[in-house]
This record gives sequence, C-alpha cells and structure tokens, in this order.
Amino acid sequence: MRKNLKVIPGIFPMPVLMIGTYNEDGSVDVMNAAWGMAYDFKQIKLNISDSHKTTKNIRRTGCFTVSLATKDTLVESDYFGIVSGNNVKDKFEKTKMTAIKSEYIDAPIILQYPICMECRAIEIDGEYGVLGEIINLSVEEEYLDKNGNPDLSKINTIAYDPFTHGYYEVNKKVGQAFEDGKKLI
Ligand SMILES: Cc1cc2nc3c(=O)[nH]c(=O)nc-3n(C[C@H](O)[C@H](O)[C@H](O)COP(=O)(O)O)c2cc1C
Repeated sequence: MRKNLKVIPGIFPMPVLMIGTYNEDGSVDVMNAAWGMAYDFKQIKLNISDSHKTTKNIRRTGCFTVSLATKDTLVESDYFGIVSGNNVKDKFEKTKMTAIKSEYIDAPIILQYPICMECRAIEIDGEYGVLGEIINLSVEEEYLDKNGNPDLSKINTIAYDPFTHGYYEVNKKVGQAFEDGKKLI
C-alpha cells in the first residue's frame, strides 16, 4: 500500500555544494547549497537567495568555486549553511580551513575539499538563480584512480536528504551507466 505524503522536493541524493567567494576585504566566504546542479556539460546552476553574502560577492567579483562536501568536512560544511558572512566577519577563519586563490578566476579553492570547480557567473537572475560556466575542475591527486578520474569510493562525498535534512555518505559504486541496462536488450 502506497501512502501519499505532503508535497516535498523528494529528489535524493541532493548535492552538498560548498560555494566559495571572496568578500570585499579579500577574506573568504563559503556557503552550503543543496539546490544546485549541472546545467549542461560546462555549466552549473545554483538556486541561492539574493540575501546571502555569497550572492553579493558573486555580483561583485563575477566568480565562485563549487566544492563537494565530504564526510571528513561535514561539521564545517553544515556550519557554512547556518552562519552567514553577512553577520559573522570571520566565518571562514573560525573553521581553521585553508584556501588558495584560483589560477583562473577571482575566487578561493578550499584545500580541505578534494574536488573543486572554478566558475565564472554568466547570469544572475532575480531572487534565486546563478548560472556559472565551469572554467576548471581540480582534484587532490591522492583521490585519483589509475585512469586519472576522481575515485568517489575514496572521497566519501555526502548528499543531502530533503525528507529529514540528513546527510548521507555516498561512496559505493553499484553499477555502470549505459552498460548494465544492455542485459535487457
Ligand atoms: C544543507 C543546507 C543546504 C542549503 N542549501 C541552500 C540553497 O540551495 N540555497 C540557498 O539559498 N541557501 C541554502 N542554504 C542556506 C545557506 O547556506 C545559509 O543561509 C548560509 O548562511 C549563507 O551564507 P552566506 O550569507 O555567508 O553566503 C542551505 C543550508 C544548509 C544547511
């Protein structure tokens, strides 16, 4: 018997994206965004509120980074989603995380996140919408497999669950896309 629940954006997993930007004084801000996705093969769309410090920073610099949160960085990543750079000037410093400037854009790469995309804003649209072009993606070398691809079984990325606001670890490969279905052809 199926039960009808209330209207929920019941897509799982949702990502746990860490959006990195520079404040006016050159300090780093990072925010947590689950409402974001790959838009095409070179673009990322974020649904982030205009009121966030992050959005103000993107409007000023035209740039941002997108990193994937991990089990090891879960506490800091959640903190980035509940504290705002609008109110807490040393938001990033409090985590003791470290960052370097991207070679390509005016935004920080947070070193504790193994995968990071450097993006240039293409469109900032109304109350909720930033479209960015991916200029580069970098990965900490120790997390690459023998073919040079990120090894997601080692990185232990986390996903957001919109039903109970849980974080889930995503690290087990269970199939191969465009292959496993061929068994039924
Ligand atoms: C799990 C989680 C997911 C979130 N996803 C979003 C999101 O997709 N869009 C958004 O506008 N805010 C989202 N937030 C809220 C922001 O991260 C939060 O308001 C943050 O303090 C903004 O930081 P800033 O003002 O320093 O940019 C999320 C928070 C959490 C904890």
